[in-house]
Amino acid sequence: MAETVLIKEVAARDGLQAQPQHLTVAQRLDLLAALAKTGVPELEIGSFVSPKAIPQMAGTDEIAANLPETTAAYSALVPNMKGYELAVRAGVRSHAIAIAATEGMNQNNIRKGLDDTFTMAEEILDRAAAEGVDIHVYLAVAFECPYEGPVAEELVLAQVERLMRHNPARLLIADTIGAANPAAVQTMMQQLIDRYGPERLGCHFHDTRAMGLANVYAALQAGVRQFDASAGGLGGCPFAPGAKGNVATEDVVMLCESMGYETGVDMPTLLDAVSLLGEMIGSPQGGRAHTWLTKQCA
Ligand code: COA
Ligand code: ZN
Repeated sequence: MAETVLIKEVAARDGLQAQPQHLTVAQRLDLLAALAKTGVPELEIGSFVSPKAIPQMAGTDEIAANLPETTAAYSALVPNMKGYELAVRAGVRSHAIAIAATEGMNQNNIRKGLDDTFTMAEEILDRAAAEGVDIHVYLAVAFECPYEGPVAEELVLAQVERLMRHNPARLLIADTIGAANPAAVQTMMQQLIDRYGPERLGCHFHDTRAMGLANVYAALQAGVRQFDASAGGLGGCPFAPGAKGNVATEDVVMLCESMGYETGVDMPTLLDAVSLLGEMIGSPQGGRAHTWLTKQCA
């Protein structure tokens, strides 16, 4: 039987959060319905953040209340305890918390220092464990920070160790600005897989320097089987200057399936969702293999 690679589709959160066009709640629900149809096993629906900080994500509570029927597991990003409480109140039982490896990124993203950020993450993890809420922790800027430059591997390994003591459902190493290279990914992920096994680890890559897919490949070789990806390659963090889109879901699906892994994602349906996204955003979207994939599916 083919081995599975699990993809979390993040277009409706990471994809939209930095776009100049602010989609309506109805449009975001249509997008989620189209993405749910692809068969992708996990969908991020939005974030419970300050609408002053990220107006694109306002109304995620309404989204949570009106989600389309699907077998995909839903989650939402929360930046702090207030976001955690809002998400729980909206019925969301799986959350992503994004904390950064550096002081500079945490200050710019969530207006907290490094120590306070990690303490907050531990408080959320402990409370979530008591309340039966799953937490996916993102360790952002795990290779390079837009404010502080390259991030030392030892620092990231120590931070992961600290976080793992509080039993996150998943811990994702995030290359928020797309600055990692496959060699660095392979060494870091191999050490983490050896220490913690593949069940609770994942990777989140951006494709700023055209190394996104190569980084997915390097992580696969290290044993990682859980990846975030964004339909059409849309994405970026408003507080991480220079960040381009996430690795495109269609490219990651193509890479994994051509290597014999199963993703459960139906490519023609995914390409339909990418077209819809392009219409909503007002410019065509698509990963690096878009032209070829479109011809294959025609
Ligand atoms: N959702 C909605 N509103 C929130 C909130 C949340 N999770 N957390 C705080 N707020 C509100 C407060 O109630 C307060 O509202 P008021 O001005 O009406 O009283 C206001 O935001 C300021 O609260 P404060 O705790 O001082 O927050 P802050 O101004 O220091 O901002 C964040 C901190 C985390 C809320 C804000 O920076 C944020 O939402 N950042 C988004 C990070 C993100 O998603 N980045 C991209 C993904 S990595
Ligand atoms: Zn991201």
